[in-house]
Amino acid sequence: MSHWPAEQCYQPLAIKSTSLVNYCENVIHSSKSLWGQHMGWKASPLSMMNLLKEPVLAQVHERFPIERAGILTMPPHRSYLWHTDDTRGVSINLLLTGEHTSHCLFGQRVDNDNIDFMELKYQPNTFYLFNTQWPHSVYNFDKHRFLFSIEFVQPKSELNYQQVSKWMKEQLLIQTPPTSTA
Ligand SMILES: [Fe+2]
Repeated sequence: MSHWPAEQCYQPLAIKSTSLVNYCENVIHSSKSLWGQHMGWKASPLSMMNLLKEPVLAQVHERFPIERAGILTMPPHRSYLWHTDDTRGVSINLLLTGEHTSHCLFGQRVDNDNIDFMELKYQPNTFYLFNTQWPHSVYNFDKHRFLFSIEFVQPKSELNYQQVSKWMKEQLLIQTPPTSTA
């Protein structure tokens, strides 16, 4: 049972990935890919040209320019501490590896010792608008975890989750649940 609406933390996009997942898999498996440190993650940058072949990202980029995108990886049996992002107000994420156990959690502090949490259960080939300013954490279990993630040109002082969410709903990029008429 959630303690707050999940859509305050994340929302799946209505349009699935077409080309990006294959491109990312090539990057993951290529010995030529470069992996460096980026904001505490081991990361490999993606080419903007290939990124914009993905229709939904091209549409987003026209309205909210994307600065860069990359694949972030975590080794097995690693967790990433509770945090809000330093510079990013909002992101778009997609989990590239489903054949392993990892948990992405959004939390709300109860008191000094306790945090309530909910999980973003990534579905295959599905982009998520991700509120990087809501405390979140990741626990990765048995295998390497690979995550696609982007950074907008505008930093958190200029662009937040609510702004992008509002625009995406207007564009029907996020499905709003049908209102009940019963
Ligand atoms: Fe984060």
